[in-house]
Amino acid sequence: MASKGDIQKAVQFLQQGGVVGLPTETVYGLAADVRSLEALKHVFAVKERPFFDPLIVHCSSIEQVKEQVVVWTPAHQKLAETLWPGPLTMIIPKKSSVSDLITSGLAKVGLRIPRHPDALAVIEQLGSPVAAPSANKFGKTSPTEAQHVRDEFGAVVHVLDGGRCEVGIESTVLELEESHDCVHVKILRPGMIQEDEIRSALLTMGKKIEVEYSTSQAAPGQLAAHYQPSIPLVVWQKESSPEKFEEALFAELGFKGSEGVEMLLSPQASLAARELYSQLRQHSKSSARFIYFRETDGNLDESWRPLWNRLNRAASFRF
Ligand code: TXA
Ligand code: MG
Repeated sequence: MASKGDIQKAVQFLQQGGVVGLPTETVYGLAADVRSLEALKHVFAVKERPFFDPLIVHCSSIEQVKEQVVVWTPAHQKLAETLWPGPLTMIIPKKSSVSDLITSGLAKVGLRIPRHPDALAVIEQLGSPVAAPSANKFGKTSPTEAQHVRDEFGAVVHVLDGGRCEVGIESTVLELEESHDCVHVKILRPGMIQEDEIRSALLTMGKKIEVEYSTSQAAPGQLAAHYQPSIPLVVWQKESSPEKFEEALFAELGFKGSEGVEMLLSPQASLAARELYSQLRQHSKSSARFIYFRETDGNLDESWRPLWNRLNRAASFRF
């Protein structure tokens, strides 16, 4: 946890229209005060992010979230009470006071209450929500340590060091539709708050619960290539023998198997999520020409859905 003084300094940067590397429990964000259009524009500029990719608004209370939206159903309330603060983002029709710059002109805004104490303290002391994408250059690996943010942006961004991120991959993004007898949940980006937790949070409402995974690649921020490390990531498919793998590597990339480094992750999804991005970064700095990751029975489990979502988009090849 950061010191009181460090928190104050980060708040001051934000008050002056600056952009701050902010620790959250998922990944570090690049935060701007939602009231400062200059700061919001600066986020897109330093991140080299296209304006069609909307930002998530981070709040410190459910009251503050409700001030941003024109729709708030009992299902929103239920998920908010049960899963916030935490790694869940809800996409909800916005008030006109929420800048189009944040939502890329969309009529809905993404909102979440992070559970990292430093993020909460900064938002509370600022007295305003902050908009924050992950603190990486567009399309690159998300940062899970303060040093990752410094490596990426240097002196351009003031970083609040809140230690290593506890979750390690970005929040679950979802949208809700509620009728008198049914709650329809559309998961736009899987994260470590998974279907079972969402279902059990909604269960006491006594309504039918439907869960859908949106596979649309056209959704903002869901471009196929994303989270990419600086050397190619290759997924070694379960059915591929060592000979077949070597052959495909050489044919497609001109690489030998011995020139690669294997990324090893725990079969337990929560531990793997915590490690994924830091390992991608670390291996990128090694002398290896590529990183490979093996599919096994243990990592094809349902609990790995959010991890495979990131791995598949970080990967250049599957052999
Ligand atoms: O865990 C996280 O969510 C992290 C931390 C910093 O909070 N933030 C994060 O932000 O991952 P970013 O910008 O890298 O990804 C946010 C994604 C967008 O790319 C988009 O897919 C979705 O959230 N999103 C945000 N606002 C949306 C909206 N209004 N409509 C649809 N999708 C939206
Ligand atoms: Mg991102």
